[in-house]
Amino acid sequence: MKILRYSKKYESLLFDLLAGEGPGWSVYYDSAGRERYIRALETSITYIACDDGLVWGYVRCRADDGFGIYIYDLLVRKSHRGRRIGKSLVQQVCRDFPDQRVYVMSDEDSYYEKIGYHRVGSIFSVNL
Ligand SMILES: CC(C)(COP(=O)(O)OP(=O)(O)OC[C@H]1O[C@@H](n2cnc3c(N)ncnc32)[C@H](O)[C@@H]1OP(=O)(O)O)[C@@H](O)C(=O)NCCC(=O)NCCS
Repeated sequence: MKILRYSKKYESLLFDLLAGEGPGWSVYYDSAGRERYIRALETSITYIACDDGLVWGYVRCRADDGFGIYIYDLLVRKSHRGRRIGKSLVQQVCRDFPDQRVYVMSDEDSYYEKIGYHRVGSIFSVNL
């Protein structure tokens, strides 16, 4: 397995991964979301885990100008889960930004607790 920095040449492989995940991630690949997500990828720091022309997983994050790296998306292909790919992707982010704290916007607290990360806050959705 290789972990590579994402670039546009991997776009169709990445969308293949997203589509394989099903409705939970369709906001990123349906007709309304795909172009928006392509723009988000252009302004994000994204890594893919891949081999043999297949993207096995990816992590997408943004840097807050020296005040931390925030992970927004982490996904591993269903057929490739349980091989530490998720953890390896996050570790790659940490390796490439050794002077920054790395934070995860979690949708799956049990996973991050299992791999030893600790909670430093919560996210609230603001309703006016
Ligand atoms: C969560 C996810 C990224 C984990 O990827 P993965 O590569 O299969 O995970 P790892 O192999 O790094 O798992 C490491 C350990 O965490 C455990 N684990 C995996 N998913 C877990 C979960 N949802 N809850 C608790 N533990 C979990 C594994 O069993 C493994 O345990 P072990 O060390 O005892 O074998 C993957 O299941 C996924 O893509 N899920 C759907 C999207 C998602 O939920 N993303 C995260 C929210 S932003």
